[in-house]
Amino acid sequence: MTTLLMLLCLYQTPRPDIVFADFEGPHYQGWILSGTAFGLVPARGTLPGQMQVEGYQGKGLVNSFLGGDDSTGSIVSPPVKVERPYLNFLIGGGYNADHLALRVIRNGKTIASATGPNSQPGGTERLAWNHFDLSAHQGAEVKFEIVDFVKGSWGHINIDQITFSDKPKGDLPVKRTLAAGSFLHLPVKTGATMRRLKVFEQGTGKTLADMDIELCPVGEEPSFWTFADLGKRNFPGQVILETRLEANDKSLDRILGTEEGPGRQNWFTEPMRPLVHFTAPKGWLNDPNGLVFDGKNYHLFYQHNPYGWNWGNMHWGHATSTDLLRWTDQPEALAPRKHGDWAFSGSAIIDKDNTSDWGEKGKAPMVLAYTSTGRGECIAFSNNEGLTWTEFDGNPVVKHRGRDPRLLWHKPTKKWIMAVFNEDKGNVLHVYSSPDLKRWTFESELKDLYECPDLVRFPDPADIQKDLWVLYGADGLYWVGDFDGKRFQPKGPKQRLWHGNFYAAQTFTNLDDNRVVQIGWGQGITFPGAPFNQQMAIPVELSLVAGKTGPRLRALPVRELKGQIQSKIVKESFPGQNASFDLSGGAQLVDISWKVGTGETGLRLPGLTIRQDPKAGKLFVGKVALESIKEGTLTLQIVLDRGSVEVFTQSGDQAVSLARDPKLTKGILTFLPGDSSMEISRLSVAELAPGRNPRFGPTK
Ligand code: FRU
Repeated sequence: MTTLLMLLCLYQTPRPDIVFADFEGPHYQGWILSGTAFGLVPARGTLPGQMQVEGYQGKGLVNSFLGGDDSTGSIVSPPVKVERPYLNFLIGGGYNADHLALRVIRNGKTIASATGPNSQPGGTERLAWNHFDLSAHQGAEVKFEIVDFVKGSWGHINIDQITFSDKPKGDLPVKRTLAAGSFLHLPVKTGATMRRLKVFEQGTGKTLADMDIELCPVGEEPSFWTFADLGKRNFPGQVILETRLEANDKSLDRILGTEEGPGRQNWFTEPMRPLVHFTAPKGWLNDPNGLVFDGKNYHLFYQHNPYGWNWGNMHWGHATSTDLLRWTDQPEALAPRKHGDWAFSGSAIIDKDNTSDWGEKGKAPMVLAYTSTGRGECIAFSNNEGLTWTEFDGNPVVKHRGRDPRLLWHKPTKKWIMAVFNEDKGNVLHVYSSPDLKRWTFESELKDLYECPDLVRFPDPADIQKDLWVLYGADGLYWVGDFDGKRFQPKGPKQRLWHGNFYAAQTFTNLDDNRVVQIGWGQGITFPGAPFNQQMAIPVELSLVAGKTGPRLRALPVRELKGQIQSKIVKESFPGQNASFDLSGGAQLVDISWKVGTGETGLRLPGLTIRQDPKAGKLFVGKVALESIKEGTLTLQIVLDRGSVEVFTQSGDQAVSLARDPKLTKGILTFLPGDSSMEISRLSVAELAPGRNPRFGPTK
């Protein structure tokens, strides 16, 4: 009998919900209004100037975007008795726990409060279910208060369907204990609900990872599998996974703790993977960081989201190479100190004279500077080739509204320099100096420079005994000028070398004096459907040459690219009209020279047409219009790969990086019929071998 009763209780059908407010009526029905944000009547969906609002029920909802984000106000409901243990509601809009909220008030006190999901530009206007557990307040009289006291971005809140219920709706905290060693394998579904997933070590309670991730819902095919590197751990230790999911959502069960698993398998064989361009093994990348040569290896650190196809969870990814093209993936170099304190861009150097005293056993330490978004500009050092890093205990060394510290050694003054973006009063460059990488002195400010500065020395083309400096911004515009270790002085207007999908470039430190190698982020080169997104542009050799209006930069692919050539066709002096060449291998280096005629000439490549217009004196690379010649010989170097094409004109006077469909792996090269015959003096089509080492380096 008792068992039967218990079963009856367990399976008791829930009582019907009591909908307190669905905002479908023409008025707020007894709610007290103040301010202007909520209007005099409930909203009917999206308001003027607002992104599409979704996820509400029926036609009406509370939407405090009336008059835009800057309007403020509040609404307070009539009293109501709590007659079910849970209060379910739909909520959306901005995140601000104190000033953008739905509150439950009992005897003048807030007993429960919820805010919207969005704290950054972008985001979503979708309302989602949430709930309060009011079981301790059953029978009591409460009021609801919806407040919007926030101006500016995401200064509004959306609410609908305030409902008393026996069952909670929306996410509930869930935990899972799992046997795991150094890795977790995580199924990601791009576009699924973003979850906050925390991973703790059982016993010590130490946080091993804390991330935002679009966990693949049960029953769906993941967009891709990725992995979390938990550091050196003996398998199988126990870890605890924690997130919030709707009741009965078993998404956490799909995470695997095995050493080998789908997150670390089958990569580099993907059909869209570029062959000679650097891509993250998994997830998103943006800016190159900490480009440094340690005497043996080139190090490429980069802004990395290991857990998603889009930007987020900023880490410093790491890869090493002896030739700038064949990269071996290393463990993440920097992870966020805590959720929301991201490891933003920065740079690295070798402290050859051990000015910092961080070197061990007579070996020079590698030192990096990065922006910790929660603290400021920070310094860290490594004595094992960038595998593990120790934070300087005086961090942050610079505290300001800014980011992207660029370290370099200034020989004449024997000081370290930090060139860093500051946005306290507009977009400016700040220069600091230091004798030891620890104590930093503010030296100067220069107006009109946006994020990711790069400051690099070249021999002056007019007198190679002298130095000239180039100051580069993320947007690819640069100044040539003088730098005395304190202040950069431009010697002419800003110039542009790179066009197209190219951003936040950086040059390697610690190369010999005559070599400057630059890598940029191929911003906007995407690989939909692949486990990775975005790529680095091909590494280029920069040189400063005398131009008509003063010194200017040139860029050509690094000479090491020739080492990737596995076969080559060379043809000299031929009319281009009916010729065609096979470009099916995946990646190619094409070199072409032709005589500019009186009519239009050019070439068609899979995914790109290049057109020389002699009348306008322009070269159209896709939609990018470059300065060109009206007569004479035009020479182009073209690097084709899955997802991108780069074009370098003449001896590297102008450079273009463009996205093309990464599925376009087969095709031919043909020539544009002009009104004069296209005279090609030389064409070489070289097939390039895959540059990536399909192995991961050791774990930490
Ligand atoms: C440039 C940038 C940097 C910042 C980083 C964050 O693309 O916005 O200023 O440090 O990306 O990922």
